[in-house]
Amino acid sequence: MSDRIIPLVDARRMPLPDVGPLAPGSRVADALGRPLRDLRISVTDRCNFRCTYCMPKDVFGPDYAFLPRREVLTFEEITRLARIFKDHGIEKIRLTGGEPLLRRDLERLIEMLAGLGELDLTLTTNGSALARKARALRDAGLNRLTVSLDSLDDAVFRAMNDVDFPVAAVLEGIDAAAAAGLAPLKINMVVQRGVNDHTIVAMARRFKGTGHIVRFIEFMDVGSSNGWRMDDVVPAAEVVRRIGAELPLEPVDPNYYGEVAERWRYRDGGGEIGVIASVTRAFCRSCTRARLSTDGALYTCLFATGGYDLRALLRGGASDAEIHAAIGRIWRVRGDRYSELRTAHTAQLRKIEMSYIGG
Ligand code: GTP
Ligand code: 5AD
Ligand code: SF4
Ligand code: SF4
Repeated sequence: MSDRIIPLVDARRMPLPDVGPLAPGSRVADALGRPLRDLRISVTDRCNFRCTYCMPKDVFGPDYAFLPRREVLTFEEITRLARIFKDHGIEKIRLTGGEPLLRRDLERLIEMLAGLGELDLTLTTNGSALARKARALRDAGLNRLTVSLDSLDDAVFRAMNDVDFPVAAVLEGIDAAAAAGLAPLKINMVVQRGVNDHTIVAMARRFKGTGHIVRFIEFMDVGSSNGWRMDDVVPAAEVVRRIGAELPLEPVDPNYYGEVAERWRYRDGGGEIGVIASVTRAFCRSCTRARLSTDGALYTCLFATGGYDLRALLRGGASDAEIHAAIGRIWRVRGDRYSELRTAHTAQLRKIEMSYIGG
C-alpha cells in the first residue's frame, strides 16, 4: 500500500448547467447581476515556498501529489481559453499559482496572451525569481505585477515562508521589477495576529514614497490545511488605525467597479496603501472574478468546492462557439458569495487549496 498523500483538492467536476441556448458572442451576468471581468489563471500548482498559511509542510511535504504534466493545460490551451473569455468581456488576466515564475518559459505564454489585444495583463509572484526574470517578463508584454511579501523582518519572513528564504532577495526582485517598468507595483502582505502583525507599520514606512502600493490582506480560511481561526485575523480597520496613528491616512475612492482593495492615501502625499477585508467586510456583491485551475477547471469562487471541466471540452474537440456557450451557461447560474456567508461552521468545510485554484 502506498502511503502517498492525496492532494487536498476536491477533484469534483460539476456538470455543465443547462439553461438554454446562448447567442454567439453574447455576454452574460451571473444570478446576482455580476458581470465577468477578471480571469485568474493558475499556471502551476507548485511553489518553492511553504508559507505556513498556504502550503504548510505537513501537508505539502515530499509525498504530496502535485499534478502530473499531462494534466496541466498547455500554453496553447490557456491562450485559446483566454481568447474565448475575452469575448465574454474579460478585461484583466492575472497569472497565479503556486508560484507562476516556476512554470518553464512563462514569457512565451505572456507573449501569446499579450497578442490577444487590449487586456490588463498581470501576475502575482513570491518574488524569489524576479531579480532574474523581471526584464524578460516586461519584454514579453506583462503590464505590471504584484509581489507577496509578508514581513521585512528577516526572521519573521523566513519563518513564514518556511524555506528560510531571505527577505533581501525579494527586495532585490522588487527593485528589478520597478527598474523594468512594471508599474504600479503592488506588494501583498497577509496579516496574521501574533505572527507578523507587529511588522505592519514598518512595511508601510519602507514603501511610503516609492510609488509601490502595499496591500494588507486579512488572513482567510481558504483551503483546508492552514488551521484558520477568526482569532488570527487582524481586521482591516485595525490595520488602518495602527498605521494611521503613525502615518496619517485618508480614504480614496476605488479605481474601478469591484476593486478588492480599499484604498487609503498618506495625508502628506507619500502615496497610498490598500487593505483587503475579505473576512470583516466581504466584497462578493461586486465579485467579477473567474478562476481557471492549473488543470483547466473553471471555479466561480475562491471558496468553491467543485469546478467545471473546461479541459474536457478543449481536449474533446469542442468548437470555440461551444466553449463560449458553456462558459456563458456556467456564469449565468453563478450565485457564489462565500465570504458574505462565512460562519465558524463554513470555515471548517473542506475547500480547494489556494495553490491549486490560484490566489
Ligand atoms: P489589482 O488588479 O491590482 O486591483 O489586484 P487584485 O486586488 O485583484 O489582486 P490580487 O491578486 O493582488 O488580490 C489580492 C488578494 O486579495 C488575494 O491574494 C486574495 O488574498 C484576495 N482576493 C482576491 N480576489 C479575491 C476574491 O475573489 N475573494 C476573496 N475572498 N479574496 C480575494
Ligand atoms: N489568506 C489571505 N491571503 C492568502 N494568500 C494565500 N493564502 C492566503 C490566505 N489564507 C495570498 C498570498 C498571495 C496571494 C497569492 O494570495 O499572500 O499574495
Ligand atoms: Fe507559495 Fe504564494 Fe502560497 Fe506562499 S502564498 S506558498 S509563495 S503560493
Ligand atoms: Fe468572489 Fe467568492 Fe471571493 Fe466572494 S468569496 S469575493 S464570491 S471569490
